[in-house]
Amino acid sequence: SAELWNSAAHVLEINWTGDHMVPSRKLYPHQWSWDAAFIAIGLAYVNPTRAWRDLRSLFEAQWPDGRVPHIVFDPATAEADYFPGPGFWDVPAYANRPARGSTGIVQPPMHAIAAWDVYRHASAHGANCAQEARTELEWFYPRLVAQQQYLTGRRNLGGGGLASIVHPWESGLDNSPAWDEAMANVPADLSLLTTYQRRDLNNADAAHRPTDLDYSRYVGLVLSYRAERYDDHDLLDRHAFAVECPSFNSILASAELALAQIAGELGLSAEAAAHRERAQRITAAIVKRLWNARTGTFHALDVKTGKLSPAHCVSGLMPLMLPDLPAAAVESIMAEAKSEKFGISELPAPSYDRTAPDFDTKRYWRGPLWINVNWLLRRGLLVHGFRDEAEDLRTAMVRLVHRNGHFEYFHPETGEGLGAPTFSWTAALSLDLLA
Ligand code: DGY
Repeated sequence: SAELWNSAAHVLEINWTGDHMVPSRKLYPHQWSWDAAFIAIGLAYVNPTRAWRDLRSLFEAQWPDGRVPHIVFDPATAEADYFPGPGFWDVPAYANRPARGSTGIVQPPMHAIAAWDVYRHASAHGANCAQEARTELEWFYPRLVAQQQYLTGRRNLGGGGLASIVHPWESGLDNSPAWDEAMANVPADLSLLTTYQRRDLNNADAAHRPTDLDYSRYVGLVLSYRAERYDDHDLLDRHAFAVECPSFNSILASAELALAQIAGELGLSAEAAAHRERAQRITAAIVKRLWNARTGTFHALDVKTGKLSPAHCVSGLMPLMLPDLPAAAVESIMAEAKSEKFGISELPAPSYDRTAPDFDTKRYWRGPLWINVNWLLRRGLLVHGFRDEAEDLRTAMVRLVHRNGHFEYFHPETGEGLGAPTFSWTAALSLDLLA
């Protein structure tokens, strides 16, 4: 509807800083990595130049080793307005590092998917936009390749061809029950929270956020990684948390497929074939390593212990994005998605199994429903030809945001908006769902 379109465009107007988009003005006053990708996908419909600027602003902070940081800081925002800020991360200096500073961890590599989407949509905006899109695509391609190489190379901590996350923040699904077992083995020192103070609770209800116990571990993991200047060599031995997430790795494989499209468009056919082959290899590794044959579902693998998490989380549905997923796995994901655990009806899928005893309707990634993962789920439904289910999910998302607003996340039973009220990716993806 025009009303939803206009309200979404308005959110993207008020969250634009002139250089990049913030996820929300108060709770997240810097630039976030995977947010930027989802944002660019929607922004392409209303302002392709800004979509490219936003992605570039993030990639200008790419490290020489290829990693794209999970937050790029805005020097105009006071250290006191966000924790953990640039002073806490204290990342090593590197050539061409922008003055803005960054964190030393990553987030799911959605950016090749975004660049390809923005390119296709911008090309429809007329000759000037098409010319700009071509120039941008050429600028991004080697940088996106370097990002993939970092993740499939240095982050292949388990040796099986998947990327490990070394901090829950890297998943983007911060306090997901998928890491409960792995996190139980991470030292928790609550006294760290007297030295380093949380700022998120100044702008959000504590019951809707990760707990202090979570935060003490989050801080401890950064201190551990920071101590060796975010070096990845022998990280598995030195660091308390290493997990292979099905959602992160499905995005990693999808990014290779997007890179294949981009390489093809740029006339690099040998590279395109190599990207497709890498996507197949990652897909095969996801099936081999993250599939529980007994339950027929995908789970996070704790690389330190070799154990799969027992939790059923929305991340386990994300391999549906992969076109080469074996038919049996597709069927199982569809059964799980339609079961009472995740059943999409009036409302989109929750972040966690509705039937779990610790399902928490308000706490971030432990129950509430999020638009970005549902958008990815819809993409997966379309990849495998489930057109009716995809359309039902699209309708459920549009209805939810239209009724409740562009919230960060939503109560999985009532649809009530939770977290930040004018959240950029909810607005941006609404534009894509309406287009
Ligand atoms: C936050 O600040 O809550 C973010 O999720 C960390 O990336």
